[in-house]
Amino acid sequence: MSTPDLIEPEDGNKDDNLGLYRRATQDGAEWWRVSVGDRPETYRLEHGADDHEKGAGTVDIDLVVDEENLRAKLKKWRREGFAIERNAAGETAAPTRIAFMPELQRASARMLAAKLRDAAGHAPHDATTDSVRIGNVDVRCGAAHPLVPRVNPAYLFPARFNDIVTDIVENRRVMLIGHTGAGKTSLIEQVAARSQHGVLRSNMNGQTTVGDFVGFWTVKGGETLWVDGVLPTAMREGLWLIVDEIDFAEPSILAALTAVLEPQGRLVLKEKGNEIVAPHPAFRLFATANAVGAMSQFRHLYQGANLMNEAFLDRWRVYLLDYLLPTEETDVLIRTLAPHMTRPLATTLAAIAADCRAAFAREDLSSAFSTRRLLDWAELMLRTGDPERAAGPAIYAKVSPEDAALIRGIIRHHIAPAA
Ligand SMILES: Nc1ncnc2c1ncn2[C@@H]1O[C@H](COP(=O)(O)OP(=O)(O)OP(=O)(O)O)[C@@H](O)[C@H]1O
Ligand SMILES: [Mg+2]
Repeated sequence: MSTPDLIEPEDGNKDDNLGLYRRATQDGAEWWRVSVGDRPETYRLEHGADDHEKGAGTVDIDLVVDEENLRAKLKKWRREGFAIERNAAGETAAPTRIAFMPELQRASARMLAAKLRDAAGHAPHDATTDSVRIGNVDVRCGAAHPLVPRVNPAYLFPARFNDIVTDIVENRRVMLIGHTGAGKTSLIEQVAARSQHGVLRSNMNGQTTVGDFVGFWTVKGGETLWVDGVLPTAMREGLWLIVDEIDFAEPSILAALTAVLEPQGRLVLKEKGNEIVAPHPAFRLFATANAVGAMSQFRHLYQGANLMNEAFLDRWRVYLLDYLLPTEETDVLIRTLAPHMTRPLATTLAAIAADCRAAFAREDLSSAFSTRRLLDWAELMLRTGDPERAAGPAIYAKVSPEDAALIRGIIRHHIAPAA
């Protein structure tokens, strides 16, 4: 039988009918996707709609048809104004390309279901293994410890942090990169604070030696004693260790870290007769950096930062943390400085911060505008009643005169002088 009914009969190859058939609608586009079915001589048809505003929609119809049925559908679609999508080279999308997303969605749903079944199968939590919900993730609580950070009630967990929190639960090594004051350290600390885990921090941009980090021998009262560094301490006690500014760490520290980057990785204390330190199940390792990976374009702002090699970076999940959105920062201002900070004030201040960051991104400003700086300025402004006076110690004195002049201009653009 010939194929006069097909939209794109071409040379009779059935694969020519595979692809995405789309027609424009008032709000966006409606589409049918044709791919090969699981059984021979069958086709899978999926239907969905993309919205100008909401973006790509999900599949709302998913069915399998035979060849004859497909032919009837193709005819109907042609009448309804659907046309097959071709790329610049005149080819329809490859079937594997078309099939990837629905296949992934099914695989991902199965994985989630398996996890839920696993969680339901666990023995009921006792008092020490209680969990707390952070965003949409259940985080198992640790035992009380003097190093548990204080909860910041004003801290905001946007939904985009869920993946990071899941990685913490799954004991992945998480590296957070981003500009100064974007919230890297506080994110980890606030997860720890809410889930009652003690946190140790070690800053690599200073005098941290491999002795501080791994441990050293010392003489006390005539006795020679070994003192654990922060890494074995955290591993033995089940603390969370944040290695801040890891892009400044010396090679011997990175070498010690590499050993424990695998979830069950053990540390060998060579200086202590090759003693092996196994990680406590609650031990977690984090790193923060300003200028590695996707942030390397800003290396000139963070002088002295080392490039990290790819093999080392590949052992981490690296998340780029951007500053909060203006609406989020408005909420943080109100919550942090309650009850004095009002919404109109906070909205303006967050807009000023956003404008300063845009100027920084255009390289008109050479200093980043952190949430920390914004909160500090706002607090001082409430005390002094004077934005300009408060900007002195909170902003202007920390940047170059050129930057100060530009920031002053941005502030004046948003805040008219008092009458
Ligand atoms: N999601 C948030 N909710 C509330 N406050 C936040 C949030 N993110 C950041 N902040 C505020 O910004 C301050 C600076 O954040 P933090 O110290 O975590 O930044 P950082 O990225 O670690 O900076 P640095 O690179 O300088 O170490 C925090 O003390 C907190 O007050
Ligand atoms: Mg930090």
